[in-house]
Amino acid sequence: KLVRACGFHAPAPGEIETLGDTLIDIARDGVIRDVVRSDEARYDRVMNEARRAARLVELPKGRFLLPGLVDLHIHAPQYPQVGNALDVPLEDWLQTYTFPIEARYADAAFARRSYSLLVEDLLASGTTTAMYYGTIHDEANRLLADICIERGQRALIGKVAMDHPDQCPDYYRDKNAKAAIAGTQSLIDHIRSHPDNVDGRVLPVVTPRFIPSCTDALLEDLGALAADHGCHIQTHCSESDWEHAFVKARFGASDAESLDRFGLLRERTVLGHGNFLSAADMDRIRARRAAVAHCPLSNAYFSGAVFPLKDALQKGLRVGLGTDISAGATVSLFDSARSAITASRMLETGTDPDLDPDSRSRHGGARIDFRDAFHLATAGGGAALGLPVGLFRPGFQFDAILIDPDAPLGSIRLWPELHDGEQILQKIIFTAARANIEQVWVGGAACAGTSFDRRAD
Ligand code: GUN
Ligand code: FE
Repeated sequence: KLVRACGFHAPAPGEIETLGDTLIDIARDGVIRDVVRSDEARYDRVMNEARRAARLVELPKGRFLLPGLVDLHIHAPQYPQVGNALDVPLEDWLQTYTFPIEARYADAAFARRSYSLLVEDLLASGTTTAMYYGTIHDEANRLLADICIERGQRALIGKVAMDHPDQCPDYYRDKNAKAAIAGTQSLIDHIRSHPDNVDGRVLPVVTPRFIPSCTDALLEDLGALAADHGCHIQTHCSESDWEHAFVKARFGASDAESLDRFGLLRERTVLGHGNFLSAADMDRIRARRAAVAHCPLSNAYFSGAVFPLKDALQKGLRVGLGTDISAGATVSLFDSARSAITASRMLETGTDPDLDPDSRSRHGGARIDFRDAFHLATAGGGAALGLPVGLFRPGFQFDAILIDPDAPLGSIRLWPELHDGEQILQKIIFTAARANIEQVWVGGAACAGTSFDRRAD
């Protein structure tokens, strides 16, 4: 089909392209074949040809097309816990709240109910790609993959590997490294051989939970498994003051250095958080072409630090955003984008009013704006994953959301006589609610949004 719409995308941090009345030619497989702007000589011809062939889809006037949002870090089993227990340190949060809720996914009926709700809510919130941590349970992990495939979400899914007897409770732990590897292998096989996963929309991820929860043997075997299968990798890296110090004490090295030793720092590795990364760690991550999932909201609750986002971007690291449900308390990546902006401003300014403004903060220039945040939430996330998503460009997947600023139950208020161009995008980034998301497409197929009727599918 040939979609005619106005919209925005962000090829680089801080760089917005406004697509005014643009034609996007989408092949049957969901890949964008061509993008034609209204000032091109061929515009009318291309549109008329499509109209004659009955393949022109004119999206309603006054709506705005954005690339689908990419959530680089989310714990699917923690969805029932969203909004609870945000007031305890990370290590207590894990032991007292999080491991017990994750352990419930031994019950497949519970897993099905919870995962169906999560995938539905994420799609309706505009998240077209999600990189998920599952649990240790094979059946629940397979269910998550099946639900993503059925609902059409692009997803990367990992069986959480955690076998360390000192850090993981007996009721929620892989019995040993061998069992964790077998579970990981079985999810890889399930996803790759799934009869309905024809376009590879769902991918497996090698997922050591974080260094403290894994034995050396498991870390070594997971590195080897990822290399054998060419999988994505995800883990938590230098997240909290406690966790960072724990790894230093165990290996005499930082998280990034230690992961590298185990073959877990590679292209298509996504490191959650990274709050305590040193300059040398960042250089290493860049050299390995790995990426960071910035989870600003969760960092505020659990890390004891703010991710030096601007430093990472200036060093050329691949960075995207994560909600980190349920350490972050929202499914909306718009909220994550807003939190990323807020956190960067507080990092820049410093927070202690007793200090004079010049010495409050060592982070001059740390701020990002809505343009940067929009890039991170879309194209930045796509680049971190090495997937062609997040831009309206030939060769990219048509993963997109249509924003209706005038949706009666929405929360965007546009004044047409006051706002145009990038101001509209700014309004959307700062104020859009789920009710403003009218349509959601993944790989060219509609799969959610306020106007989406599942029964008509
Ligand atoms: N570190 C280890 N596991 C987790 C988790 O589930 N959430 C967060 N935020 N950090 C972790
Ligand atoms: Fe996390």
